[in-house]
Amino acid sequence: MHTSKYNRPLVVSKAVAAPLLEAHGIGKRYGGVRALRQVSFDLRAGEVHALVGENGAGKSTLIRVLTGAVQPDEGVVRLDGRVIEHNSPHRSRALGIAAIYQQPAIFPDLTVAENIALVNEPGGLARRIDRGARRAQAKELLRAIGAEIDPEREAGRLSMPEQQLVEIAKALGGNVRVLVLDEPTASLTERETEKLFGILQQLRERGAGIIYISHRLEELGRIADRITVLRDGETMGTRQAADTDVRTLIRLMAGRELSAVFPKRAVKIGETVLDVRGLTSAAAGIRDVSLQVRAGEILGVAGLVGAGRTQLAETLFGLTPADSGSIRVAGSEARIQKPEDAIRAGIAYVPEDRRRHGVVAELPVRANATLAILQRIAKGGLLQSAAENALAETWVSRLGVKTDGIDAPVSSLSGGNQQKVAIARWIATEPRVLILDEPTQGIDVGAKAECHRIMCDLAEAGLAIVMISSELAEILGMSDRVAVMRGGRVTGVMDRAAATAESILELALG
Ligand SMILES: Nc1ncnc2c1ncn2[C@@H]1O[C@H](COP(=O)(O)OP(=O)(O)OP(=O)(O)O)[C@@H](O)[C@H]1O
Ligand SMILES: [Mg+2]
Repeated sequence: MHTSKYNRPLVVSKAVAAPLLEAHGIGKRYGGVRALRQVSFDLRAGEVHALVGENGAGKSTLIRVLTGAVQPDEGVVRLDGRVIEHNSPHRSRALGIAAIYQQPAIFPDLTVAENIALVNEPGGLARRIDRGARRAQAKELLRAIGAEIDPEREAGRLSMPEQQLVEIAKALGGNVRVLVLDEPTASLTERETEKLFGILQQLRERGAGIIYISHRLEELGRIADRITVLRDGETMGTRQAADTDVRTLIRLMAGRELSAVFPKRAVKIGETVLDVRGLTSAAAGIRDVSLQVRAGEILGVAGLVGAGRTQLAETLFGLTPADSGSIRVAGSEARIQKPEDAIRAGIAYVPEDRRRHGVVAELPVRANATLAILQRIAKGGLLQSAAENALAETWVSRLGVKTDGIDAPVSSLSGGNQQKVAIARWIATEPRVLILDEPTQGIDVGAKAECHRIMCDLAEAGLAIVMISSELAEILGMSDRVAVMRGGRVTGVMDRAAATAESILELALG
């Protein structure tokens, strides 16, 4: 991979003999699904070993086996050459294996400091509490990763990227020998990602081993020493990151040539569909936002974590209603006090935190994919099953959702496949305005290109699309215009031609 721009110090691998952590011949079945077969993987001290593969390839399952969260049907896990018997999350943590899972394991009712303390204070929260010390430690850990989060905040009120940052702080608290990160940068912007990479570098210099899962293949060249590719539960080989380019990785992941980027199609731009003037919400921290999005147009919304992008979406959708200002959709004033008002006005919203608002884990894929349009396909209160099935099948195949069938519960899908179901559900409502918050976060390259293609199709059909994204390449690639936010305000709007990484960053930083 190309590392030209970034000169990272050469790391001399200390471990030549036994790897730090090793998985050997791992197999795991879920009913008829073979999530892992004969997978072997090893991690050396002082290295970053990336794990990549399409959605559903088995990455998360493998790391759950390593941390003892899942028991394999066959195979062993060794640390320092010794088999870990009766592995469990508790045991692996005691051995110095820390994991940051794809879905943050935050206790919403506890504060940030309590969440961090929970894993790092041996006796748990029930012990004699020194709140001051706990707060100080949380503050220190958060500061180390450059997160400006008040340790006394209730964790349930944190945004998705903030939760991720708390997860990282949690993992760094103890004595970490092995750190596993399952898509840590999925909702982080470049600036936070940068900080995270700095920390990983420090950890590896201390001799820790890091397993790093990411769908952002371009970033691997900067931090990974080796890369292992999984496809359909099997290892496709391990490579030196320095000798492997993104194209090769994609071919190994997909088993065929695949384009990582979908070229944006120019479509006819029509009348203004969404017209926002002076929108202000004290609760959401949104100040005097004015924006126009026309039919066929994709407005990209950029900004750093905490800039107010998701809050703006939540205000437009009625989750945190505005105090003043106006929202007009296709010429008529929309009074949006709650999501139902927004849906009636023709606004659909695919939220970033799809676990909380995006999918109903207990319901099957079928119901999830069609939940928002139940009114449309239900007649006289009776659900028309055939119509629902047809719709669900269409979207499942179009987005390539990897599932046992549309009757499988969403909770059995891999992280990326759950995302696809959430996206399907909202585009199926045929809205006039579609707000997408991090639409392709956590989905693999093939599905990402498909998602971009669908966005262009929807734009061509006359939708006005607002796309919030932390990925600059996506903002630059897909937007007709780019709005940049900082501190709850829009600090600038640029045409596609004028938008560059530099101009966006300048407006984002102020
Ligand atoms: N609890 C479960 N019950 C049933 N099937 C499961 C369960 N957990 C995982 N699977 C299946 O195992 C396979 C591998 O899933 P896994 O979560 O490991 O994928 P992944 O590589 O992490 O994908 P992603 O990039 O989408 O996160 C998938 O087909 C998934 O549906
Ligand atoms: Mg996963």
